[in-house]
Amino acid sequence: MTNFIQEHRRTHTCGQLRQEDIDQEVVLYGWVASRRDLGGCVFVDLRDRNGITQIVFDPDVSAENFELAGRIRPEWVLGLRGQVRSRGDNANDRIPTGAIEILAHEIAVLNQAKTPPFLIADQVDAKEDLRLRHRYLDLRRPEMVARMVKRHAITQEIRATLAGEGLLELETPFMIKNTPGGARNFLVPSRMSAGSFYALAESPQIYKQLFMVAGYDRYFQIVRCFRDEDLRGDRQPEFTQIDIEMSFITPADIYRLSEGLMAALFHVAQDVKITRPFPTLTYAQAMSRFGSDKPDTRFGLELTDLTEVVKKHDGGGLGMMKGAVDQGDVVKCLCLPAENSLSRKDVERLEAKVKEMGGMGLARAKITAEGTWSQSPLAKRVTESMRAEINELAGATEGCMLLFQIGAEAKVHTLLGGLRLELARHFDLIPKDRWDLLWVTEFPMFETSEESGEITACHHPFTLPHPDDVDLLETDPLACRAQAYDLVLNGVEVGGGSLRIHDAEIQARVFTALGISDQEAQEKFGFLLEALQYGAPPHGGIAFGLDRLVMLLTGSNSIRDVIAFPKTTSGQCLMSGSPSKITEEQCQQLHLALK
Ligand code: AMO
Repeated sequence: MTNFIQEHRRTHTCGQLRQEDIDQEVVLYGWVASRRDLGGCVFVDLRDRNGITQIVFDPDVSAENFELAGRIRPEWVLGLRGQVRSRGDNANDRIPTGAIEILAHEIAVLNQAKTPPFLIADQVDAKEDLRLRHRYLDLRRPEMVARMVKRHAITQEIRATLAGEGLLELETPFMIKNTPGGARNFLVPSRMSAGSFYALAESPQIYKQLFMVAGYDRYFQIVRCFRDEDLRGDRQPEFTQIDIEMSFITPADIYRLSEGLMAALFHVAQDVKITRPFPTLTYAQAMSRFGSDKPDTRFGLELTDLTEVVKKHDGGGLGMMKGAVDQGDVVKCLCLPAENSLSRKDVERLEAKVKEMGGMGLARAKITAEGTWSQSPLAKRVTESMRAEINELAGATEGCMLLFQIGAEAKVHTLLGGLRLELARHFDLIPKDRWDLLWVTEFPMFETSEESGEITACHHPFTLPHPDDVDLLETDPLACRAQAYDLVLNGVEVGGGSLRIHDAEIQARVFTALGISDQEAQEKFGFLLEALQYGAPPHGGIAFGLDRLVMLLTGSNSIRDVIAFPKTTSGQCLMSGSPSKITEEQCQQLHLALK
């Protein structure tokens, strides 16, 4: 069988032959997709990553090959020499090679295969776990091949575009100093330094800044990042970023470069021309209108702020709303149009959803022909004047339903933002084939961690404060805006970046605002602080999530579908069985004692 390979160079792939190749003698290699015994001949569909070609085994040409063909099974690996001929009236116009077939002259079985645990075809009903366990088989399926090929095309386009813009492709270490504070790091025990650990880089952030200090301005890298966080459909523990950093720039330069990159990627992946420049919303606008810092703007259903109306009417007969605004909380609502009618069951399900998201419940009111409220305990108590004003402000007319949330602003935004997406899914409000790209800018510098209640950096601690807000670092840090921006595509955060601090003094003030002492800052980031004192240029950058972009640009539902060998949401590789236990001896070498 090795002889066959030595003697027969592949002339074509299984997706290549057409009408104009008829009569040629060709050599193909591939996997048996299917075999059919028909009308005295055996037909085999031979598949490689380029396509499928039909092969005919005719006993009149070779009784030996015909007999062998009768025995071959799906996924066997074949080498084949034969002659291209027309399929005439039997042409199959669903595949590109459908006009021809190959009359086999010689075959070699290069390997046999066990029966695969699922069908190697596009519409498989195999569970994802089974597909992940045999990922090498899953990757043979044409739709997976198409995704991988598109990922390749996108990656090549990124390199061409960014190198074309004068950015250097440089690498940074994966094994770095453990600097707790951002996403939780994976740790790697050091054999040579007992009791010490490397961290796997959550991003090249500090190193790309050091490239700027070193004068290598205009850098990019397509780079693996590692984060030990809770996983979901658009998060993996190792994922790929398109990482960019430049010196002597303004955010406008980053926007222009990024928009050019997106235009190039949409062109190769979707053959779509996107409109530039992209619209911008400030963080405050995005939260207030959509209840999200990554708003899906492909549909309406925006939030209406009722706080001032409730204040003006001193609660308008509704004690709970009065209590809330009196203590500085907010009242907001969504107005569901009459054509999107919710059944009682739907409302109960939505209410359960709100509670799941941490809310108390779902106050609501249906608007009658007279403009009064019904189906609501609020209906009897609300004053006529406040009701009329709320209806007016929210644009609520007969048949509409108002859905209220009352409480702390951030919570109300999260709940109504979540509800808005839930309703859009329920009523199928999101148009297909629409691409909404937008910048969200002026993020806050800091937020309060829900877990610990402590102040943490919204983006990361190297982000430059807004020039008007620098003095708030000491007086009101939570009100301090950052020169940070995210790129949002159809409601998914596909990129984020900022201008960086290049001044050691401001960097120290930010650390102080974060409650990091001088000593701690020296221990963790001393090398960066020192570098900033050796002529650091003003700089900034951005990183895009490549997997998320490929997911959206291939219309996939999960980033697992566009990563060749992904982990499950519990961080497992079902194929290799990692993570796995290590031996006592390995522990000793690494100076570890397992509990
Ligand atoms: P950030 O943490 O926002 O910024 O990451 C940039 C982009 O990476 C993608 N992303 C992920 N994709 C898949 N799985 C994950 N677990 C995951 N986490 C993030 C998102 C996100 O927008 N160093 C900064 C960038 C900078 O400031 O230049 C950074 O890493 O699409």
